Amino acid sequence: MTAQLSKKGEAWSARFSEPVSDLVKRYTASVFFDKRLAQFDIQGSLAHAEMLATRGIISQQDFADIQRGMQQIAGEIDAGQFEWLLDLEDVHLNIEKRLTELVGDAGKRLHTGRSRNDQVATDIRLYMRAAIDDIAALLRELRLALLDLAEQHSDTILPGFTHMQVAQPVTFGHHMLAYVEMFGRDAERMADCRKRVNRLPLGAAALAGTTFPIDREQVAKLLGFEEVCRNSLDAVSDRDFAIEFCAAAALVMTHVSRMSEELVIWMSPRVGFIDIADRFCTGSSIMPQKKNPDVPELARGKTGRVNGHLIALLTLMKGQPLAYNKDNQEDKEPLFDTVDTLTDTLRIFADMARGITVKPEAMRAAALQGYATATDLADYLVKKGLPFRDAHEAVAHAVRACDGKQCDLSDLSLVELKAFSPLIEQDVFAVLTLEGSVAARDHIGGTAPNQVREAIRRARAQLA
Ligand code: ARG
Repeated sequence: MTAQLSKKGEAWSARFSEPVSDLVKRYTASVFFDKRLAQFDIQGSLAHAEMLATRGIISQQDFADIQRGMQQIAGEIDAGQFEWLLDLEDVHLNIEKRLTELVGDAGKRLHTGRSRNDQVATDIRLYMRAAIDDIAALLRELRLALLDLAEQHSDTILPGFTHMQVAQPVTFGHHMLAYVEMFGRDAERMADCRKRVNRLPLGAAALAGTTFPIDREQVAKLLGFEEVCRNSLDAVSDRDFAIEFCAAAALVMTHVSRMSEELVIWMSPRVGFIDIADRFCTGSSIMPQKKNPDVPELARGKTGRVNGHLIALLTLMKGQPLAYNKDNQEDKEPLFDTVDTLTDTLRIFADMARGITVKPEAMRAAALQGYATATDLADYLVKKGLPFRDAHEAVAHAVRACDGKQCDLSDLSLVELKAFSPLIEQDVFAVLTLEGSVAARDHIGGTAPNQVREAIRRARAQLA
């Protein structure tokens, strides 16, 4: 008996003597989530059909019928008129069944030399390639927004922290550029991942290849794949590219989350370094005075969810023997949710970065507390000939004295300062200012305002 789509649509029904229960049907079906692959499924099928026709495996008339049918199906899906049936299990069988209804035998010939195993792997890769391109564009938008903010504040000074303790003054532009670096690496990782996504599994068929004289290179070319997967067993079972993508996505979210944490701290009234535009914040249902930074908080929270998807996919794959196993159907929901979460988050952040108001006075006031220029004083003494460790010691005494007097290093008189080292002269006061401190770190990667401006110029050129 030949396998064919039964009235109810199961592609293998002739083999079975009883139908599956409704529960099993629901349990094994994927149509309600994999229907989002529909446009890629159609694209893949059209390329496959064109190749079959070129190689004389199906007729040109069959190909023309398949094209006509697929065009109608694409229209029905776009218009929300396509009837997705649970009985037909997944996106592939739903579309194939409808195609056969529309064009008859040509529809039944489409699956020649193909399996759902290589078909679904192809669909996911096409979907992911498009998703990566969107994400790359959003990462660029976000970096451009951060570069604008950095440029407006290349001279604005705030305390830099280590261990959440005031460390040294830095410019706000420099601080923003740190995130530009992170999101730049993210873009590189996405571009790298795209190379391994952009390979064609079709032709692997169920697992071993096919007896038909197919031309995989032609299909790859039609679909814009740079490479053909080189081993049929690997082609149908590999999901490394999805794991790589989720790992890259988890890192993007980690960067977003770190930035979110800072935005939340900076917006706390106790700190007051920034304000975030009202459209990204919400109030409290009970406390009328509140303006909460919900967007960064939620982004920080959603990072956990993306990390979870990465672990889900790693765990999904770790025990699978070659080749395709139904387990693989579980790759989709984590992947789709990762794409949705990341895409939404980046879109909101690119927008929100333009809704950040910096409060330079509050930053400056904070930088004046906590002896942020202590290292500058030590460096000053080194330049006057004192070994660094001795300079460190002398400044530690000065800081301790300031602590007792509740004043800053720059508030001490020259006479008072000289008590800690006779090498200290009048020129020390230029070193103890915040401006002098940041301007002195004048090398590639340093916080000096002119270095910040140069780094912005370089980053903009890269993004052009
Ligand atoms: N819905 C399936 C999936 O997502 C398609 C492949 C099914 N292949 C099979 N041999 N049952 O993985």
